[in-house]
Amino acid sequence: MSADRPNWVEEFESKGYAVIEDFATAEECDEMKAEMYRVMNGLDITTEHKTVFSTGEDQQQLKDDYFLTSGDKIRYFFEKDALDEQGELKVEKDKSLNKVGHALHWHSDVFKRFSFSKKMKGVMKGFRLEDPAIIQSMYIFKNPRIGGAVCPHQDASFLWLDPLKLYGVWLAVDDATLDNGCLWFIPGSHQEGKLDGERRMLRVTKKVGDEERVTLKHVGISPTPDDALYTACPVKKGSLVLIHGMVMHKSESNLSEKPRNAYTLHVIEQKGTVWSSENWLQPTAELPFTAMNAN
Ligand code: FE2
Repeated sequence: MSADRPNWVEEFESKGYAVIEDFATAEECDEMKAEMYRVMNGLDITTEHKTVFSTGEDQQQLKDDYFLTSGDKIRYFFEKDALDEQGELKVEKDKSLNKVGHALHWHSDVFKRFSFSKKMKGVMKGFRLEDPAIIQSMYIFKNPRIGGAVCPHQDASFLWLDPLKLYGVWLAVDDATLDNGCLWFIPGSHQEGKLDGERRMLRVTKKVGDEERVTLKHVGISPTPDDALYTACPVKKGSLVLIHGMVMHKSESNLSEKPRNAYTLHVIEQKGTVWSSENWLQPTAELPFTAMNAN
């Protein structure tokens, strides 16, 4: 292994994913989990969230708006069926959140420190990125018994740029096992170099009366690869899983008694690439994509 070519690079290039064990210490993981619970305790379900997630007129538009404008904020997304028709939580919020996103890396000191750490920048050097930028972050709960499955997908379906230089970084805050919903990959699937079913999630503008509204639209066909093609990727707490933007992956529901928390980032190469204006996520005046070398 040469100094500028870490030993995970070869595996990443051939399989489309790789694991760096012991990337974060147990203390760093515990600190992130504690920070997430601190942030979450500031969540007042009785205000905007109740409005957004209750059923009623224009509910889909409210949900789309809430998601579409979350790129530069800390926002909360619940498990399916966690809220009743009035928008009241059926289960405690610390047990029913699906994820928090999409700018923890900027608004929380704890997550910011980790996201822009020297060791994280070292990973980007391994990818040979010249001007890496963090475009989004998420804390994923996958709570015991309620944490839902994530269906097969390629991250580039949601975050497209040309050329496609998109890298997912997934930190196991808890042990991720076969029982609590670890990641599964189709090794080498990134090498096909295309989106299965030409699946994409796009922001589209539609006219409602005199008004122009931005909504989300899924195009193409949802991928349904053969289950036999997948390899499980159980990892220990503190492991970092690197995910190519084109590799097919999924995770199962968490039917166990143990949480499977994870902190994820998506990083792009800014130099020589063009970010798709059709992506749901766009840089904003409040938070442009955050260059890692400058922070
Ligand atoms: Fe993903």
